[in-house]
Amino acid sequence: MTNILRKFPNDNLPPDIIGAKGVYYYLKNNKKLLDTTSGWTSYATLGFSNERINNAMKKQMEKFTHIDFNIWNNPMLEDLAQKLINHATNGLDKVYFGGTSGSDAVDAAMKLSYQIHFDSGRRNKKYYISRVQSFNGATLHAMSVSDLPILKIYDKLLPKGIYKISQHNPYASCKFDVKKNTCECNNHFKNCMGKFKNESDQDYLKRQLSELEEKINEVGAENICALIGETQLGSLVGDVPPLKDYWSKVYEICSKNNIHVILDEVYCGMGRSGKMFNYSWYDFSPDFVCVGKNMTSGHAPLSAIITKSKFQDIIAKGSGRIQLGHTFQGYSLGVAACNELINIIDEDKLMDKVCEKGSYMMDILKNELMENPFFKNIRGKGFAFSLEHQTSNNPKFGILLQKIMKEKYDIIINSKWHRTSFVPSFVMNDKEIDKFLSLFIKTFKEIQSDWLKLEGTNIDGVSKSMGAVEENK
Ligand SMILES: Cc1ncc(COP(=O)(O)O)c(C=O)c1O
Repeated sequence: MTNILRKFPNDNLPPDIIGAKGVYYYLKNNKKLLDTTSGWTSYATLGFSNERINNAMKKQMEKFTHIDFNIWNNPMLEDLAQKLINHATNGLDKVYFGGTSGSDAVDAAMKLSYQIHFDSGRRNKKYYISRVQSFNGATLHAMSVSDLPILKIYDKLLPKGIYKISQHNPYASCKFDVKKNTCECNNHFKNCMGKFKNESDQDYLKRQLSELEEKINEVGAENICALIGETQLGSLVGDVPPLKDYWSKVYEICSKNNIHVILDEVYCGMGRSGKMFNYSWYDFSPDFVCVGKNMTSGHAPLSAIITKSKFQDIIAKGSGRIQLGHTFQGYSLGVAACNELINIIDEDKLMDKVCEKGSYMMDILKNELMENPFFKNIRGKGFAFSLEHQTSNNPKFGILLQKIMKEKYDIIINSKWHRTSFVPSFVMNDKEIDKFLSLFIKTFKEIQSDWLKLEGTNIDGVSKSMGAVEENK
């Protein structure tokens, strides 16, 4: 019996947890589990209950827990903005502390984009372009630019004027039949799921850019505020980096049409890729970069938008104020936590470690599993990469991997749908990395070689919260 309205009411209650420290969970039944997922939804980049972050927050608590930074200046907030800007590239030089969650950040970026056009006299701009197979958060606005089968029931509630283009996924293949001019990924010409057979990267990119231009022409550039997308596709599709020139070309088209580019780096930013901001791998200057869950390693809620001072000038001369706000934007304890998180990343040179160890992990997995019949590919950057499985029942294969790793080896991995996503904490040490990699490889091989037997079995004890229910690619 529980008084909590749970997200998965049909599941058994999960086990009681009594502690989480570093990369380990401690359960009431004395079990200690190694977490390779940074808290399942990939937020604990410096592990749980990090001592330095805890101390920074305690120190802040002795001064004040939260003050409204619109009324009082909090010098810590200025420090944090400076630190974020020091890591930003390509002309981004302003930080808007928009709220406490990633959804808030996406929502605020959409509204800011609208207001900036409004204050510039472009008053018809009210629509957005986003890509299929995406997730940008749980507010109505953030949901409206998302595209996920389980969100469909909310369709009637969502703001109108969102136009979808294809996802950008060079690892997915589109089953387009040139002779019949049809495609299995129905609605092929509207929302294509990937590359055609034998299509070069260059042709794929060209086709995707034409699709964007056609969409802009169809909707009318004068009506569109912004295009929004994750810089690197996240957990839904499985850590897919874009082709090298994708974002710079998209930006070129958008800026020509006075359309902002909003990047959602709630999942793939704040160091996950080996650079503080994922867009810094590419040569372009996005208008808004949303960050959230990775800002404090889960020690306090905080989100922000990295943007450009020219927009502040427009607002200052236009409406004279940002017309939106939240009580806990720039939440002081979150600010203290994020300041310390960036100190640690810089002092311990964790971006170098993420690049180096990320490649190391991908190389090992590739070398060990490349020849395995169930291996499809491995892709990603830094500590945000995925291994795609190719089996007769992908969700079941993922569930089995996850279950065996947990029950036999006390290791939590995130294996869902068609992929295992590797998003470990940056503080995981070499021994822990080697241990979980070798046990993962062993389990992958064992399930594969026993597949005919296992495929027909029932899998008990896998909850919907941890398991896989539908395929997303
Ligand atoms: C890419 C992306 N954007 C936005 C969000 C929403 O963030 P939050 O759950 O903090 O509202 C998420 C959450 O998983 C995400 O992965």
